[in-house]
Amino acid sequence: MKNIIVAGGAGYIGSHMVKMLGESGFNPITVDNLSTGHRDSVLCGDFEECDIADSAGMGRIFEKYNPSAVMHFAAFSLVAESVSKPDKYYRNNVAGTLNLLDTMRKYACDRFIFSSTAAVFGNPEYLPIDEEHPKKPVNPYGTSKLIVESILRDYSRAYGLEYVIFRYFNAAGHDESGDLKERHNPETHLIPLVVQAAKGERPHISVYGDDYDTPDGTCVRDYIHVNDLCSAHLAGLRYLENGGDSSDFNLGNGSGFSVKEIIEKVRLVSGVDFDVKTEERRAGDPPSLVADSLKAKKILGWQPEYTDIEDIIKTVWKTA
Ligand SMILES: NC(=O)c1ccc[n+]([C@@H]2O[C@H](COP(=O)([O-])OP(=O)(O)OC[C@H]3O[C@@H](n4cnc5c(N)ncnc54)[C@H](O)[C@@H]3O)[C@@H](O)[C@H]2O)c1
Repeated sequence: MKNIIVAGGAGYIGSHMVKMLGESGFNPITVDNLSTGHRDSVLCGDFEECDIADSAGMGRIFEKYNPSAVMHFAAFSLVAESVSKPDKYYRNNVAGTLNLLDTMRKYACDRFIFSSTAAVFGNPEYLPIDEEHPKKPVNPYGTSKLIVESILRDYSRAYGLEYVIFRYFNAAGHDESGDLKERHNPETHLIPLVVQAAKGERPHISVYGDDYDTPDGTCVRDYIHVNDLCSAHLAGLRYLENGGDSSDFNLGNGSGFSVKEIIEKVRLVSGVDFDVKTEERRAGDPPSLVADSLKAKKILGWQPEYTDIEDIIKTVWKTA
């Protein structure tokens, strides 16, 4: 069985990846410092508590497992926090990743799959957003991911690193087994927040701005089920194993849903009504973000299974 290091495997997306790798005949090795992750979310393979910035610790792990590839989910990802604490984001997301890549070089592990984000694009200049869209991030979180994308290109050229970059739009949903959940603290993602309101765990749901240039005035986002992201990672791993060239792929469903539509869908799925409050716009929220994922479909043969937003919401409602 091939050992695959999953950096950040105790987090929301990483823990789903670990489970899928385990079910697909790989041995996932989770490396996580538990800064935002949870030990009990790691359901398969080995667990190593380590910070990716710890060179000696990472060296021991590479020595022990001789991994054939690394999937890198470990990062901080709160946009607002990245604006007030850019040092935290550049240190963890950029310097930490650099250390991980240098450990890989040292131990001759040269396959790398990177979790990037739609935030690298900044304000959309056209929709849907394909891989060629200009990349002008508007916050340090997006910049930190774009810097890593550049590092990967340079390491590939100079040291033969083989990489796949995946830029996720809005990850959503849970594994249907109910064994894994989105457990961010604080939670900032819309679907779990609206589900919490439907469950009575928060007094209301806030809508930040209803006067955007969108059909109903609220922001439009592209929601992609977490297991569809993970199946893209598996396809990316196989692509590299089969000699595919290093490349980048946007991952989304290709259709956008507004905040109001998500609220209505959660009301429909749950059968529960709850309070909604309209608040001021937040700085830096683009009106619409929708992905063009044709490249991943064409080159990786990837197909998302959860193309209906109601089905994505049901996986959260059933298991939250
Ligand atoms: N959730 C989304 O909608 C979304 C969208 C776009 C991109 N992403 C990216 O996907 C990745 C995973 O996101 P998530 O929502 O699962 O986040 P998460 O916070 O749930 O998971 C991140 C994991 O990485 C670990 N970690 C962080 N820094 C570390 C370090 N220095 N050393 C070891 N472990 C460390 C945390 O403990 C946590 O378990 C991130 O890189 C994020 O930027 C997420």
